[in-house]
Amino acid sequence: MKNLVEWNDDLSVGIEEIDEQHKILVNLLNRLHENIVKGTDLNEVSLVLKELAQYTVIHFAVEESLMRIFDFPEYEAHKKHHEELTVQVIELQKKVDSGEKAISMEVLHFLRHWLTYHILGDDKKYTPFFLKHGLKSQWSQRSWMGKIWNNVFH
Ligand SMILES: [Fe+2]
Repeated sequence: MKNLVEWNDDLSVGIEEIDEQHKILVNLLNRLHENIVKGTDLNEVSLVLKELAQYTVIHFAVEESLMRIFDFPEYEAHKKHHEELTVQVIELQKKVDSGEKAISMEVLHFLRHWLTYHILGDDKKYTPFFLKHGLKSQWSQRSWMGKIWNNVFH
């Protein structure tokens, strides 16, 4: 089955750790799509949507932590946008759970836009700033912990 969202380099923000989290979000969206197209039990759909909502909260918390560590000047605006995106996915989850609205292709396309717009539109704004202030593009446990370490203890 063709994926709803195909990962490609255009979606990369140039920071491996963030890209890995975005790929998890893309995979969850594709799983949701597959379940819906196959007509899987609605409970299963609801579980994947719940996982998507939970992982979104985790991912945004990571991005917001990085923004605070690096004193990103557009922190407030980006955080506000995160809150709106979180509300949207949680509202969707509630609707599916209450049976108020059958999840449809329309909803999936909304989520695809939700995800790609977030990555392409918003996240690429912080990338040059983080890299300029010392975040490493390659995955490394010390890439940003190192910055905290240097600021606090040295
Ligand atoms: Fe993101």
